[in-house]
Amino acid sequence: MNPRRILVTAALPYANGQIHIGHLLEYIQSDIWVRFQRMRGHETYFVCADDTHGTAVMLRAEKEGISTTQLINRVWQEHKTDFDRFLVSFDHYHSTDSEENRSLCQQIYLSLREAGLIAQREIEQFYDPVKEMFLPDRFIKGECPKCKAKDQYGDACEVCGATYSPTDLKNPYSAVSGATPIRKVSQHYFFKLSDPRCAHFLYDWTQVRTPLQAEARNKMKEWLGNDALTAQEKLSDWDISRDAPYFGFEIPDAPGKYFYVWLDAPIGYLASFKKLCELRGLDFQEWVKPDSVTEMVHFIGKDILYFHTLFWPATLQFSGYRTPTNVFAHGFLTVNGEKMSKSRGTFITAASYLDAGLNPEWLRYYFAARLNASMEDLDLSLDDFVARVNSDLVGKYLNIASRSANFLVKRFAGKVDEAALNHPLITQLRQAAEELAAHYEAREYSRALRWVMELADAVNAYVDTHKPWELAKDSAQAQALHATCSVALEAFRLLTLYLKPVLPSLALGAETFLSIAPLTWADVSCPLRAIHPILAYQHLMRRLEAAHITDLLVRNGATMPSELGAVSKAAVQSVVNEMAVTTKDGIEAIGAPISIDEFAKIDLRIAKIVDCQYVAGSEKLLQLTLDVGEQTTRNVFSGIRSAYTPEQLIGKHTVLVANLAPRKMKFGVSQGMVLSASGQSDAGGIYVLEVDAGAQPGMRVR
Ligand code: 2FM
Ligand code: ZN
Repeated sequence: MNPRRILVTAALPYANGQIHIGHLLEYIQSDIWVRFQRMRGHETYFVCADDTHGTAVMLRAEKEGISTTQLINRVWQEHKTDFDRFLVSFDHYHSTDSEENRSLCQQIYLSLREAGLIAQREIEQFYDPVKEMFLPDRFIKGECPKCKAKDQYGDACEVCGATYSPTDLKNPYSAVSGATPIRKVSQHYFFKLSDPRCAHFLYDWTQVRTPLQAEARNKMKEWLGNDALTAQEKLSDWDISRDAPYFGFEIPDAPGKYFYVWLDAPIGYLASFKKLCELRGLDFQEWVKPDSVTEMVHFIGKDILYFHTLFWPATLQFSGYRTPTNVFAHGFLTVNGEKMSKSRGTFITAASYLDAGLNPEWLRYYFAARLNASMEDLDLSLDDFVARVNSDLVGKYLNIASRSANFLVKRFAGKVDEAALNHPLITQLRQAAEELAAHYEAREYSRALRWVMELADAVNAYVDTHKPWELAKDSAQAQALHATCSVALEAFRLLTLYLKPVLPSLALGAETFLSIAPLTWADVSCPLRAIHPILAYQHLMRRLEAAHITDLLVRNGATMPSELGAVSKAAVQSVVNEMAVTTKDGIEAIGAPISIDEFAKIDLRIAKIVDCQYVAGSEKLLQLTLDVGEQTTRNVFSGIRSAYTPEQLIGKHTVLVANLAPRKMKFGVSQGMVLSASGQSDAGGIYVLEVDAGAQPGMRVR
């Protein structure tokens, strides 16, 4: 088989935020593919970079009181660290704010201009007269034209989900300065996508030449229509310029005009690779020329398909470069079936995951076990995450080595019985190699891993049948023990090979104790050898505990006990205990966190105590008559007799839980509850809440 030459990219993360698990889905997906290709012996390069330009980064730096350079350098370091820790094996991690990118952008733009594909025209846009800048849609806010919700962004309403353009907003204001935006005209530069050459090319590229995912091809058909002629009508020119002030590269011969970030970001793929070529002495041209025999594939999220299947191939095609071999889009990540949420603590950052002591390979494995080649969304179910990692990795895969390695070391000096390896179980495992490779190649990782775990089940069944721990008790069974442990370990070696694209660090641990060189796919047929005795087995991976998950959610700001409860009650209790800030003697620990929505369910009202009576037959209760601003007064029994006489209370304003379900008591119905303070026992006194003068009966307390 001739080695392929493959350049792989993953989408460039914006330089104004942290990497979170939603991002990681893509970096893990692409890294597995890259590691697999490398193991197959293909010449594979994996590049990425920070996506640094645009208004958001500019404003963020300003807000932090630092320069854009300082901001992007800091974020670059954070991103790079996160990727390294998650074992994402980029060959080079660059920045779009680099000289390589500047010169490529200029040269590509000039080629497009040369080809007659750049147009100029005036457009009118919202402008912030105070900040003196044009406002991108995300920086204009106002009332939703549909549901009238206030403070909605210029492109979509978060309340009713409507999408619209910023000009549709009612009472728009600048999210930067608060000023009312004015409409202002300026000269813009356009890439003429509607040019017949582009339309023909794009129709052909998306519908004929490129083996896009079916979903992607259909989407393109929606955008382009049924033929190249329709495509020409449906495509509009693409605005590639932005006015100063803007953080980006200035457009040649156009002072004060900058390349729109989405023009220079994908060019950043090439810039990063160009830098890598310089560092490694590779021939950049060989890879990027139009008739290059190398492959170039982009892993992306489905939200940026448009940029990668329209603008990007057209940009390359008409500036004299090769076009992508393919674009692999994945779906979005949900957590426990819902969008990642800050209040649920499921907006999990890469750094918090690692800082909470979670093993990056747990997440790599879980994502891989759920990933396929489609654009469907993927759910990280936290309960399933815990169960699957423990059952598959610890319970199935590692269990094989932990049950057989040490017999081999102690009884047979670590040397395998080579003759025993000619066993049908080993043949069965070897025969899986090519089909498993096909699944990895097709990004059907879930299929691959399901199969690997079935094979692990077969190996465990073999060990269960032969019971090395029993054989070890009988010296007459030494040979059987030797054979059993040898077969089990060779099987473990093969399983390690098949899991290695997903679990590179675990594989390294296994390779070390098996005393073998780094596994490649060709090693399927290179069994363990007696001349390289194995070393004693040390545990290679801990179990994932429910408490890890709880810790993770709390670190990420979980305020919803229901979310934590889904994991385990004991774990929740341990977190609640941890969260209970140390309090003084006699003062109760702070309770489990609740969300503002949960708090809002309690309707607290100002109540005036208009009358108060002792309750005949009760040592504890006082009967209160309360004015809560309603037509009639309320009757409430309160256990405060030990602390107050009726006279002390009449005329006071206090706080009532007004929507507590009425409670039938021996002495009558209590219509709510008055709030009072007390220690852990009543011995420290009871103190009815009083409110400042001026509060009127019926006012809401919030
Ligand atoms: O959507 C995003 O997060 C962009 N920063 C991705 C850019 S990918 C490429 F085109 F540069
Ligand atoms: Zn709305």
